[in-house]
Amino acid sequence: MKRRNWIRQSILSGAAIALTPAINSFIKENEELHEIYRLHWNENHFGPSPSVISAIQKAVPEGNLYWDEKIDDLKADLAQFQGRKKDQYLVTSGSTEVLTLLGQHIGLQEKNILTGAESFPTLPMFGQRCGANVRYVPMDGYKLNLEGFSESIDAHTGLVFICNPNNPTSTEVDPEELASFCRRVPDNVLICVDEAYIEFSKGGPQSSMIHLVDELPNLVVVRTFSKAYGMAGFRLGYACSQAHNIQALSMRYPSLGMAPGLLPVVGGIAALKDQEFVDRAVGQIKEGKQIVYEAFDRWGVIHPHSSTNFVYARKDRFVADVCSRLRKQNILVTQWPSMRDHFRISVGKSEWMDRLVEELEGMRV
Ligand SMILES: Cc1ncc(COP(=O)(O)O)c(C=O)c1O
Repeated sequence: MKRRNWIRQSILSGAAIALTPAINSFIKENEELHEIYRLHWNENHFGPSPSVISAIQKAVPEGNLYWDEKIDDLKADLAQFQGRKKDQYLVTSGSTEVLTLLGQHIGLQEKNILTGAESFPTLPMFGQRCGANVRYVPMDGYKLNLEGFSESIDAHTGLVFICNPNNPTSTEVDPEELASFCRRVPDNVLICVDEAYIEFSKGGPQSSMIHLVDELPNLVVVRTFSKAYGMAGFRLGYACSQAHNIQALSMRYPSLGMAPGLLPVVGGIAALKDQEFVDRAVGQIKEGKQIVYEAFDRWGVIHPHSSTNFVYARKDRFVADVCSRLRKQNILVTQWPSMRDHFRISVGKSEWMDRLVEELEGMRV
C-alpha cells in the first residue's frame, strides 16, 4: 500500500475507533454504581421483542449442533417478506460484516469509493485498508448530495456508498430521487445502499431500494436487525442483491455457510414475524425524538429532522465540553472527531430523554 494511503487510512480508522476504549472503560467503572444512559451507539432500548427472546431461549439447548439449515430458513423468510429469492441474500454477523466485505472487494481492485463527506465510515475505512482510495462528496447541507455523487463518478470509481437514512446527519434522501440516481450509475460501478435506519424513515421499509435489485445488476442493499428490531448484541445483518453479487460476496465471507450462529438466526426468524414490535418501537422512539426537538426548538438549537433513531444537532448553544459533562452525569452521547460543531444523541426511553433535556438545560450558554 502506498505510504500516503497508509497514513490516511490510519487517521480515518483511528478517528472512528478512538472513542471506544474510553467509553468502554467508563461503562465498566460505573456500571454497578449508577444507571448509565447509553445514548451513543444508536441501540434500540425497547428491544429485543419478547417473541425474539423466547425463540432464542428455546434454541439454547440445541447449540451443540451446526445449524446451517436455519440460515437457509432465514433467507427464505427474508425472500418471502421482501418479494425476492433466497439466493439473493447473504446473512452475516451484523451488517458491519457485509460493509467490510464490500470495502475489501473494492480495495483489492485498488479502485475508488465515493461516499458522503459526513457519512458512515465502515465500508470506506475497510476499503482504504485494502487499497481503495476514498473520495468524499460534499454534503448538500445535512443531506447526501446525489447530484454531487453523479458528477464525481469517473473511470476509477468502483463503488458508491449511500447511507440512507444517513448516519450521522440523520437525514434521508427522497426514495424516488435515490432510485433515479441508482439507475444512472454505470453498471460497472457497484452501489451499496446501507439501509440500517430505513424503518425510521418517512416512508418506512417501503422506501427501501430492495425493489430495484432485480433491475440493477450493480446494486447491493445492506440491512440490519440491530436497530428497529433491537438485536444489536445478537449481531445479525444481511445483503440483498442479484445472485451473482451474493455469490461473489459469499466467496469472501469466511463462514463457509455456518455463521451467523443459531441464536441470532432463530432470533431473526422470530423478529420478522413480529412487525408489531417494530412499529411500536419506531413509535416510541418518535415520542422520544419529540421531547428532544421541543427542547432544542425552544432553545434555538439547530438540528435537521431525523429519519433515524438519533438526533444530530449543533453544539454551539451549549458549553464547549457538553459531551464530557453529560458523561459525568452518566449520559453517553457521541461526538466523532469529524463532527466538530455537532453531537449525536441516540433516542431511548422517554424518561431518559426527559433527564437528558434536564441536564442539557443547565449546560446552555
Ligand atoms: C449506517 C449504519 N450501518 C451499519 C451499521 C452496523 O450495524 P450492525 O453491524 O450492528 O448491523 C451501523 C451501526 O451503527 C450504522 O449506523
